[in-house]
Amino acid sequence: MKIKEFSLTNKFIKDRIRSVKKQVEPKRYLVSFDSRTTAHVFTDVLVMGSGVAGLSAAIQAARCDSVLVVTKERIDENNTAYAQGGVAVVLSAGDTVSKHIKDTLDAGQGLCDAATVKAFISEGPRRVNELIAWGALFDKENDRLVFTQEGGHHFPRIIHAQGDSTGKEIEQTLIAVARENKNIKVFEHTFVIDLITEDGICHGAIAWHAKKGSMLIWAKRTILATGGCGQVYRETTNPGVATGDGLAMAYRAGATLQDMEFVQFHPTTLYIAGAVRFLITETVRGEGGILRNKRGERFMPKYHPQAELAPRDVVSQSILKEMQKTDRTHVYIDIRHIPKERLYARFPRIREICASFGIDIAKDLIPVRPSAHYMIGGVKVNRFSRTTIRHLYACGEVACTGMHGANRLGSNSLLEGLVAGSVAGADAGKSIQRSKRELFPYPIQELAGGSKISWLDLNDIGNSLKSLMWRDAGIERDEKHLLEAEEMIEMWCRYVMDKEFANPAGWELQNMLLVSRLIVVSARKRKESRGVHHRSDYPETDNTHWKRHITVKRQKS
Ligand code: SIN
Repeated sequence: MKIKEFSLTNKFIKDRIRSVKKQVEPKRYLVSFDSRTTAHVFTDVLVMGSGVAGLSAAIQAARCDSVLVVTKERIDENNTAYAQGGVAVVLSAGDTVSKHIKDTLDAGQGLCDAATVKAFISEGPRRVNELIAWGALFDKENDRLVFTQEGGHHFPRIIHAQGDSTGKEIEQTLIAVARENKNIKVFEHTFVIDLITEDGICHGAIAWHAKKGSMLIWAKRTILATGGCGQVYRETTNPGVATGDGLAMAYRAGATLQDMEFVQFHPTTLYIAGAVRFLITETVRGEGGILRNKRGERFMPKYHPQAELAPRDVVSQSILKEMQKTDRTHVYIDIRHIPKERLYARFPRIREICASFGIDIAKDLIPVRPSAHYMIGGVKVNRFSRTTIRHLYACGEVACTGMHGANRLGSNSLLEGLVAGSVAGADAGKSIQRSKRELFPYPIQELAGGSKISWLDLNDIGNSLKSLMWRDAGIERDEKHLLEAEEMIEMWCRYVMDKEFANPAGWELQNMLLVSRLIVVSARKRKESRGVHHRSDYPETDNTHWKRHITVKRQKS
């Protein structure tokens, strides 16, 4: 009986594999445009995105060149601004670069680029001191920086600001520096639709503004710093802007993307019906927070010797197991044993948000569950943040630098954004100076060829996609569910990708479908469990076959 069932399942899977093999490549450009009738904008360096990586890049590039920062919402609406925990940096007595490197490589499970890890961690203190010199106020006691710890770090090396609003402090500091710089212009509420490329060289981008309409932005160098794609999942800590636009446009332009299966799930987001999935920072556990199941039992020590401070993938998977075992939608984080004054001072924002739902963090358990948090994979770059397309750079979450391997340590990403952003900006700036090439816009007429008529309910497809990704390509994966996801996405692509939309809602949906497809295809390929990629049908790490990266690239560009 068992054998029969198995072969039926196999046949079922094979039939479906055949059906998803007929994938349609996305159109090169999402919209039609004509350089004779479109407004033109010129800049030396175009930076897309205004988080820590984008603004760091802009500030460095502006040392020699004119810079235009384009961002799809307000300048301060991005993942950086929501980051709570902090920046991992070697600044405390007793810590060393080699200890931080070791923790980072251990978490990355064989897929970090050791040279990049060393370079970024060594450069961290200089970049953080620069931020402090620009006015960033990190939390201090008796005039000394205070350090906390997060999962997988064996040393308290995380600095933070305003208790649990580190990203906001960094973002505001960088915005102030950028605003004062005469070489930097900022276009807010401007949606970049696609990169303009010819013969493997990037020349800028086509963008859109609700009042100004479409514009061709011609740039000698283009830097993608558009952040991640948490919005493809139903449960995510990411703000609404994180729809993977940069990943999708880089793919359409022919760049190589790497490790798209490695989506990191944060173990603890507030889980209350009607509440946004607000992050309960890992530093809450760093300060002594305890995870409990519905019976009030502490469970992490039975899963890992570092208990609540085990690496994130372990904590997320353990929470999932406890949720299944106790038949509950969530577990709890308990910080009631920490003195109230300390708690309120250390986590003011978490206190405020929880209080708005009637939870006093000093007295009540906080309901939490994992949700999608960070895209570890992304546009493949070298150590100068250069992508595989000439004159196109990528930095921050949209890029795959090799810093995180198969699992990112908490607070290593603000560090990476600061360093890689600066590297990208400096390299772009200097390479323009070296080449002395003038901007030469050329005639370009693109006919995207899509139907402009659409009766689609974009929200409905978007919500269905998010639920599908959460269910079938989430924390725990297997062939059957990944295949189901691929098949569904393929079906939606058939009637969404051929349309030509006239506003961001449509372009974002097209980008989310494409990025979801890349995640699912890569997750199906990796037939092992490693880091954040956990397959219940291949539970072991297989170094013989899979200690390598998975790359994806558009077939024709
Ligand atoms: C957190 O505060 O837990 C998030 C920090 C990070 O993801 O790096």
